[in-house]
Amino acid sequence: MPRFHPLVVTDVKKTTRDAVVVSLQPETAQLADFEFRPGQYLTFRREIEGEDVRRSYSICAGADDGVLQVAIKRVEGGIFSQWANDALRVGEVIEAMSPIGRFGVELSTSERRHYLAFAAGSGITPILSILKSVLSREPQSQFTLIYANRGVSTIMFRDTLEDLKNLYLGRLSVVHILKTDAQEIDLFCGRVTREKCAELFKHWIDLQSVDLAFICGPKAMMEGVRSSLCDHGMAEDQIRFELFKTNRPTRATRPTVITSDAEETKAVITLDGTSREIAMATGQTLLEAALAHDLDAPFACKAGVCSSCRAKVLDGEVEMIANHALEDYEVAQGYVLTCQCLAVSQKIVVDYDQ
Ligand SMILES: Cc1cc2nc3c(=O)[nH]c(=O)nc-3n(C[C@H](O)[C@H](O)[C@H](O)COP(=O)(O)OP(=O)(O)OC[C@H]3O[C@@H](n4cnc5c(N)ncnc54)[C@H](O)[C@@H]3O)c2cc1C
Ligand code: FES
Repeated sequence: MPRFHPLVVTDVKKTTRDAVVVSLQPETAQLADFEFRPGQYLTFRREIEGEDVRRSYSICAGADDGVLQVAIKRVEGGIFSQWANDALRVGEVIEAMSPIGRFGVELSTSERRHYLAFAAGSGITPILSILKSVLSREPQSQFTLIYANRGVSTIMFRDTLEDLKNLYLGRLSVVHILKTDAQEIDLFCGRVTREKCAELFKHWIDLQSVDLAFICGPKAMMEGVRSSLCDHGMAEDQIRFELFKTNRPTRATRPTVITSDAEETKAVITLDGTSREIAMATGQTLLEAALAHDLDAPFACKAGVCSSCRAKVLDGEVEMIANHALEDYEVAQGYVLTCQCLAVSQKIVVDYDQ
């Protein structure tokens, strides 16, 4: 189970007016814990205004960059992103869980693949990590990036992408789609929708040559792109997604409904090698019950997106309210998002360590 460790902030740089790139250094003893696969993310924990705030950020560095880096875009009214953009300074120590996540691909020097990625706004971060790693580790592979932003001034990593195009001549192609700024080619203006993708596949990208597609951005954009990729013959298993948020506010937690027959369910929870039996109130999620009993269960978004609360149900039955993070095969193996789990049976046995 991933645990929190201290990281020293070694650099904070603006990539746009509203986004910072933060470099982090683990302690020597924890270097191995922070080795990452391109596409994975870190979950930070920080007390801000008296609140225990946890948020996930994708690693934006490539596998061969020799640095651990995330990029945090300011969200209007957002507690963590505002703090990171306004107050985070070099030398500060911030706690983070070791990297998790399954977005990405196994790379191999002998592969000759064409990757296509769609990113919007801060959704570039995991894609940038994958893209850099593909270019450095698969010398015969090509990468096409479709990157959607409001306007030129909001494009994160604009110079980095230009530099990469020059460094890996002919292997990286970047199309910027801008919502408000005018561009010479009409096709590159507006939103990335199912229809826009159909036009791109007709005039710009030969989808037949694409082996794998990555999508990271708002849910509506991701669904439009996925539909269009499928319309044009791509199989579901050739498409990989990373979702940053649901429509549900991450700050608010669902109110716990406790009825008169509360505490009917017994949950046996194994965490860090120790098992404890606790009572679960009706309407309480497994995570809520664990936290209410002072168990140090991992979590971040509490919205079924980040998967840091993942555990395996060994016995009993639960129902997940939402799941934006686990693959079907994981669910089939009994893995659940404990922040989304309500008890169905009267006894459940859950293991966070598997
Ligand atoms: C796996 C994963 C990886 C992520 N990687 C990155 C990353 O690399 N860079 C990055 O900037 N963000 C990333 N995020 C989003 C990040 O975790 C936070 O959700 C985001 O920074 C907002 O947090 P906050 O505390 O500032 O806002 P909150 O205080 O949580 O929210 C304030 C308001 O903003 C809305 N909101 C929350 N998240 C977003 C969002 N992502 N976009 C727009 N509105 C939002 C909420 O609904 C709420 O109304 C990632 C999320 C996940 C789950
Ligand atoms: S805490 Fe993020 S999915 Fe449960």
